[in-house]
Amino acid sequence: QKRVLSGVQPTGNLHIGNYLGAIRNWVETQADYESFFCVVDLHAITVPHDPKTLAVNTRDIAALYIACGIDPQISTIFVQSHVSAHAELTWLLNCITPLNWLERMIQFKEKAIKQGENVGVGLLDYPVLMAADILLYQADLVPVGEDQKQHLELTRDIAGRFNDQFAAVLKVPEPLIRKEGARVMSLTDGTKKMSKSDPTEMSRIHLLDSADEITKKIKKCKTDAIRELAFDQSDRPEAHNLLGLYAIFANKTKAEVEAETATWRGWGDFKTVLTEAAIAHLEPIQTKYREVVQESGYLDQVLRDGREKASETAFKTLDAVKEAMGYLTKI
Ligand code: TYM
Repeated sequence: QKRVLSGVQPTGNLHIGNYLGAIRNWVETQADYESFFCVVDLHAITVPHDPKTLAVNTRDIAALYIACGIDPQISTIFVQSHVSAHAELTWLLNCITPLNWLERMIQFKEKAIKQGENVGVGLLDYPVLMAADILLYQADLVPVGEDQKQHLELTRDIAGRFNDQFAAVLKVPEPLIRKEGARVMSLTDGTKKMSKSDPTEMSRIHLLDSADEITKKIKKCKTDAIRELAFDQSDRPEAHNLLGLYAIFANKTKAEVEAETATWRGWGDFKTVLTEAAIAHLEPIQTKYREVVQESGYLDQVLRDGREKASETAFKTLDAVKEAMGYLTKI
């Protein structure tokens, strides 16, 4: 059976970009692939972090995976730092990865500018750790948002280089980037990606936002001066983004939404239906989230089982990698 691996960082609240770009697609593929979904807590410390919130955020993300529809009976949910093979394979891959491959990474360059003088080695190494996450599970497919495309290409390059230099041990994975929702834009600026690190909360809808918060954010979100709404107009990024969100939340095709635009008298009418669709879509996720976190011991058991299942596969690959590299493995 083919394999899927993906992950989310436990940094701050999950937003609808993370959900629509990634997790929603995991839910769809989990029945057809052997799936591993990781909370990537080692990635979360590549920028300054607060030790008081790391564990809480880690559990929260795992709970949200389940709330969004990942079924622990069929998919493996685990925490990256619980499987030490991730850190170990990263070191081995570091030693075959050219520095200039990492210096080219767009996300590194963007985040490094924000960190200034304090940019850590870990931030540069972030994509190698991500490659290790994927390659340890011999994943065929990696469902992610558009912004991870370059990291996936790097993962493929690293796997190829390893296989050429040593032995054909690592599966070269393919990204799975669905067109709808692959790049959800900020509510306050339709040319910027919706992001956990945007200082204004009004720029994003969190999965756990209350109906009031969602209503307020959509009411205040950026629009333009044209009454008729339309997709695909390059000078109207907000209209395109919000119509796309509406299509997903209301479970309608682009053509259906286009037809519906004629029934709206302008942005006000559209915002009302968008708000209703967003609230209705997120409500069952929020209900399930509360159930998961209230059931004492349940989440910990899922993560213990996940650690065990993930370790089986991960250490098998790590052993094969070490053997191919010529390590003294048997004593
Ligand atoms: P993170 O936590 O930054 O993002 C998690 C997922 O959400 C997607 N995403 C978006 N999709 C659409 N629109 C947006 N505005 C948006 N913002 C974020 C991301 O593409 C991602 O799929 N580096 C990864 C974490 C990671 C990983 C891995 C992923 C670590 N190891 C192995 C896959 C496989 C990341 O960006 O996390």
